[in-house]
Amino acid sequence: MVIESGKTRGPRSTSMWWAAALLASALSAIVTPAAPAGAWATPTIGTRRVAEAIGDRIVRFFESPEARAAAPPSVALERPFPALGPALADFDVSPAFDRVQGLPRVTIAIARGTSLYGTGEAAGPLRRNGLRTVCWNFDAYGYDDRTPHLYQSHPWVLAVRADGSAFGVLFDTTARGVIDLARGIQFTGSGPPFAVIVIERDSPQEVVRALADLTGHMELPPRWALGYHQCRYSYFPDSRVRAVAGGFRERGIPCDAIWMDIDYMDGFRCFTFSPSGFPDPARLCEDLHGIGFRSVWIVDPGIKAEPGYGVFDSGTARDVWVERSDGAPYRGRVWPGACVFPDFTMRAARAWWGDQHHAFLARGMDGEWNDMNEPAIFGVDSKTMPLDNRHRADAELGGPGSHARYHNIYGMQMVRATREALLAERPARRPFVLTRANYIGGQRYAATWTGDNLADWSHLEDAIPMILNLGLSGQPFAGPDIGGFGGNGTPGLFARWMGFGALLPFARGHTGKGNISKEPWAFGPEVERICRLALQRRYRLLPYLYSVFREASVTGLPVARPVFFADPADPRLRDLDDAFLLGGDVLVRAHVQPDGVFERSGMPRGDWQRFDCGIGDTGERDLPDLYLRGGAILPLGPVIQHVDEKPLDPLELVIALDAEGHAEGSLYEDEGDGFGYREGRFRLSRYVAERRGDRVSVTVEGRSGALPAPARKVVARVLLAGRQARGEADEGTPLEVQLGGR
Ligand code: NOJ
Repeated sequence: MVIESGKTRGPRSTSMWWAAALLASALSAIVTPAAPAGAWATPTIGTRRVAEAIGDRIVRFFESPEARAAAPPSVALERPFPALGPALADFDVSPAFDRVQGLPRVTIAIARGTSLYGTGEAAGPLRRNGLRTVCWNFDAYGYDDRTPHLYQSHPWVLAVRADGSAFGVLFDTTARGVIDLARGIQFTGSGPPFAVIVIERDSPQEVVRALADLTGHMELPPRWALGYHQCRYSYFPDSRVRAVAGGFRERGIPCDAIWMDIDYMDGFRCFTFSPSGFPDPARLCEDLHGIGFRSVWIVDPGIKAEPGYGVFDSGTARDVWVERSDGAPYRGRVWPGACVFPDFTMRAARAWWGDQHHAFLARGMDGEWNDMNEPAIFGVDSKTMPLDNRHRADAELGGPGSHARYHNIYGMQMVRATREALLAERPARRPFVLTRANYIGGQRYAATWTGDNLADWSHLEDAIPMILNLGLSGQPFAGPDIGGFGGNGTPGLFARWMGFGALLPFARGHTGKGNISKEPWAFGPEVERICRLALQRRYRLLPYLYSVFREASVTGLPVARPVFFADPADPRLRDLDDAFLLGGDVLVRAHVQPDGVFERSGMPRGDWQRFDCGIGDTGERDLPDLYLRGGAILPLGPVIQHVDEKPLDPLELVIALDAEGHAEGSLYEDEGDGFGYREGRFRLSRYVAERRGDRVSVTVEGRSGALPAPARKVVARVLLAGRQARGEADEGTPLEVQLGGR
């Protein structure tokens, strides 16, 4: 095989490329050299470049026919996308390929006024122009916006042009790579040449949808996973778990799940239980279920290397461990001491992982949390495995290769295994898996959180843009540790964080060992009151949120969206870091500065009407301001303590009429778990409001799905300048709102 870039090189096999990458990383901590000072000279486009269409206005580029022939299967893409034919000659985006110190580099020029987003999990501002992100999964405790790489890798950039049209670029390599957005888009890889996939569309929304068509959609989560989650490192022993769960119920603070961190285990051995602290996990799960709580349990990849420990023994017998370069099982130190690590790139190892879940899940756990899966290793500068460790990957992923090659997908393949395990054990339930490490496309398997942030204002401020860029990179189900993982923080910080954190797609409070208690009531009555309101808001909004999740699972649109989605051509909206759209209709403006000062200049054009959730949640500095798009109908439910507490009755429709006196909105409902919705057991209702004179009539204009119309009360609340008008009726009967009175 000959790989060329301008001049002909000698034959170089794919494995030689990875060997070169290893050597480069051994010589320097940074595999890829910094971009040279000054403007980038756009490399001339080699005449040997391959450009093939793989979809409508989606083109896959390779630097040469040989690079194309040698390309490994894509891990990012959900399935192979065969070439449909050569790309059209007038395709706008033209990646140029060259080499820097022998490493493959791709450069894409951008026009003035183009804003760049995506790049996955990165701290700092939403708009990424001028910034650099290294794709290298890394245990990044206490990161900040100068940390080059966090826990996940998304070699992906979304570019929004001045006119609101957009394109996206996927650098289809699992190798460590550098995304440099200093003067355009440049990506330097560290493995063999890779495919570059460019999606060209008329809007950023369409690009993100197309990304999901390529890399996969998030499956609809169980409804309980949309509730609030309470975590700490660690609730111990089980009586403390019961007390915290009970504390929510006694205080009327909604919560759906409580989390078990590593101390529930016996000496940090995965799939075991502390005999003193958690002697009867089945009973604990049952008791929690009895008060409407689900439980999520952490399982790490590091398996204690200890003969006699069944998980170690069976994994050794089944030969599932990641190997050193000399073929012996690799050992690295994590929580339990010396550990071995399942090689999740092998189907056989994933099947073994599934087997470990059989007895484990029989206790009644509801979800699983996979942590430390970069994988994180203690006591070594690299914080991970040696790059020359060997993975015996299946051909489907590209066959056997070094850790340098498979590092970035280790976490992704772990949660793939966990999801498969949950599904195998409970085929009739939707799995819920949370992961720290992941790779682009990993939304197929797990939700995520943004790792070990700190309890300070800068990390609070980072939370919204991080979640937005994850959403723009294909991962819709994400949230930060509300309140901050490292350190105690202050009551004011906690209240503010909960205020908007309660409205992010994944809402979980968590804190590290040794910190003060951080349950919503731990900071005194005033913070407790704010937290109750924040979480009551989330639960009031749940019918809408669930509908948005369903939309995300079908379309790939994020759950939390940047405000510029409301008007991609409006340059004022490109940099908003303190606000987001929840779905298409609700705008959330948070107050992320300690003094609560915030600018209103970034509101999208059009009529956005301020609203509250009718629970006394107006005028609170610690709660974000909520706006409803003119022309939208927002379905709200009653305040509930957990998602299954009671049915959606009454259904409240908050209505913001547009200038023509029209509004509409959709409500998606189903059984909340299981897969019946795939056989039609759901109900999708489109509510329409029409103003005639001083009356507004509300009707259901389209209903699909096999679930019958429910018997319930429907309350309509029309937002008018400075006041509201209400009406109510039984579902299915005419509903009118008189605008005249108060
Ligand atoms: C690191 C995780 O990021 C954190 O959330 C967790 O609490 C600890 N590991 C202990 O499991």
